[in-house]
Amino acid sequence: MASNRKILLLPGDGIGPEVTRQAARVIEYFDKRRIASFEVKEDLVGGVAFDRHGTPLTEAAMKAALDADAVLLGAVGGPKWDNLPFAQKPERGLLRLRKDMELFANLRPAFVFDALADASTLKREVVAGLDMIIVRELTGGIYFGEPRGISTLPGGGRRGINTQVYTTDEIVRVARVAFELARKRGKRICSVEKANVMESGVLWREEVTKLHAAEYADVQLTHMYADNCAMQLVRNPKQFDVIVTDNLFGDILSDCAAMLTGSLGMLPSASLGAADKGGRRKALYEPVHGSAPDIAGKNLANPLASILSLAMMLRYSFDMEDEAKLVEQAVAKALAGGARTGDIAQAGMSRISTTAMGDRVLGELQKLA
Ligand code: IPM
Ligand code: MG
Repeated sequence: MASNRKILLLPGDGIGPEVTRQAARVIEYFDKRRIASFEVKEDLVGGVAFDRHGTPLTEAAMKAALDADAVLLGAVGGPKWDNLPFAQKPERGLLRLRKDMELFANLRPAFVFDALADASTLKREVVAGLDMIIVRELTGGIYFGEPRGISTLPGGGRRGINTQVYTTDEIVRVARVAFELARKRGKRICSVEKANVMESGVLWREEVTKLHAAEYADVQLTHMYADNCAMQLVRNPKQFDVIVTDNLFGDILSDCAAMLTGSLGMLPSASLGAADKGGRRKALYEPVHGSAPDIAGKNLANPLASILSLAMMLRYSFDMEDEAKLVEQAVAKALAGGARTGDIAQAGMSRISTTAMGDRVLGELQKLA
């Protein structure tokens, strides 16, 4: 393991900077205690990058991301930039990072902390103890497929087009990540598509089935249509261990799964590329929540998704499983001790600020260490 772990922070827009700051404090904590040394750099992405440089991601920032061992992103977007041309929108910065870093596997865990089982909009018995993960394909499918665009028809009407497309390789490499994960967890995987109406879904199902038979027969594989999966997620989410699905279905189903845990403000994610010869993967970590412009800059946002994204970074990029668990335990303890930002506070509970939540997590970390 290299002595200096290179991290690039891309706090981005809205609440991105405030929540990322709290995760950065956790990095500083490990650094100061000489548990691990990190080299931290920072750059712009999204609307703030557009305001400064006229592009949502400069070439220099792209290069810094490719050079880093891991990227921690905050959030991108906001109403201020809603009317920009498509290519300059804040979201393009994030999509370019995913595409150029070839981050094809997006891991989105949905984990219910015991202290929050009553914060969900679903009944406690439906969500208590939930621990599942969605593996979303991230660099293919309808997000990037060609042809795409809006054209004007002879009669003056217009036509918008996007293309859902997957190749064998794209399906197999993300399915492999999901099978490997399942092996380390409950050994159950559910592959989700719309093979009843889409050829790309038929191919998806066939390739996953083949890979399973050839290499992962020890893992239990089931298939589900995406619409049924959405329904099953709110009906009985605990039936799932690992879900593997395409880019668009994964986008939708992961928001749904996130909400089971009480708040979007709780959910971390990891986006991983292929392993190089040394076993190292390009990686970007980010909260699943967005930029929440309505509460930005007010010290109200929940920083736990960002802090938990950092825990995923320690686990997947730096092989620091013990420290990752420590951070997750510190979060669980802070929650058990009643620490609540507005998004996860139930009636009668006092609400603390973004920075105070950071303080509570760091305090618990110190006690655990
Ligand atoms: C997500 C977001 C992004 C997506 C947006 C911001 C481009 O919704 O990460 O889920 O659609 O992938
Ligand atoms: Mg989304």
